[in-house]
Amino acid sequence: MGIKIEGEEGAERLKRVKVSAPGKIILSGEHAVVYGYPAILSAVDRRLSIELSIKKGDLEVLTQHSSTEHAEYGIKRVVKEIGGGTSGIKAEIYSQIPVGSGMGSSAALAVALTAALFKLRGQPWDLERINQVAYEIEKKQHGKPSGGDNTIVTYGGFLEFKKNADGSPNFSHISTEEHLSGLFVVNSGRPEETTREMVSMVGQLYENDKKRVGDIFEKIGQITFIFSRYLRGEGDIDVTELIRENQRLLERLGVVSPSAQNIVGEIEKIGGAAKISGAGGRKSGSGIILAYHKDPQKLLSLAKEMSLDIFSVKLGEEGVRWEKR
Ligand code: MEV
Repeated sequence: MGIKIEGEEGAERLKRVKVSAPGKIILSGEHAVVYGYPAILSAVDRRLSIELSIKKGDLEVLTQHSSTEHAEYGIKRVVKEIGGGTSGIKAEIYSQIPVGSGMGSSAALAVALTAALFKLRGQPWDLERINQVAYEIEKKQHGKPSGGDNTIVTYGGFLEFKKNADGSPNFSHISTEEHLSGLFVVNSGRPEETTREMVSMVGQLYENDKKRVGDIFEKIGQITFIFSRYLRGEGDIDVTELIRENQRLLERLGVVSPSAQNIVGEIEKIGGAAKISGAGGRKSGSGIILAYHKDPQKLLSLAKEMSLDIFSVKLGEEGVRWEKR
């Protein structure tokens, strides 16, 4: 049988495939989500793309994404799932998502390469299965992740996500008109700690004082519930207060560094609100911070004054997609 050229759909193998997946932010619920509480996540308009092609020789991974190892492991893991070998594959990875900073860079890689390999090997474009395999890759990278990151990257939009007791994902789409136009992302710097380390640090804290830390998770869960009502346009909800309260609780978990706390403090002084988004970091940077102000101009002026690395993101973006070209 001949090899099909890209653009033709069907069960036959393709010769070259390009797939992209979005980055993500967590609006509410990080860390607590690992313990079964809900989180709200959104896909953003920064994407990672992976192009797979067939060539002679061993597996070759070309990337400016820092983790070639993660990509190689991912390819091996997908192949284990769908059969066949890894030789004869060339993978080229390009990314607009900052690495190791809470924007879902590793999940985007796991999802995009799973989907691309499925496509290259003539497997059905089955989001549930793509998400499942990507979760296995994420576990290798992060230890005990909730699976929220790979799920939002797979499905896109806004999701309310919970991890079931058996580890399977439990999520629903939030259809919202509220795209938080006054919301910006500030990069507080790449954390020294990995997500795996931050999750395990919070795990240790929980083991040492289940009552106190469980109470923090519970309160984060309540904020997530109210945030979800806000997005659905229900009730008169003060989102500034919600974000501030969420940040206080994250600080109590010890996942915010002094420099990130300082940025948050300055944003609050001008009437805004900010919280870390993702695993955070303790020593230097804490990755991305979500910064919100009803009057975005005030936020932008402060960012200029403080020389912050600030950018806007579009929320509710599309999940993993085949780039047919
Ligand atoms: C990482 O983006 C979010 C955490 O809640 C970990 C996880 O959900 O696996 C810190």
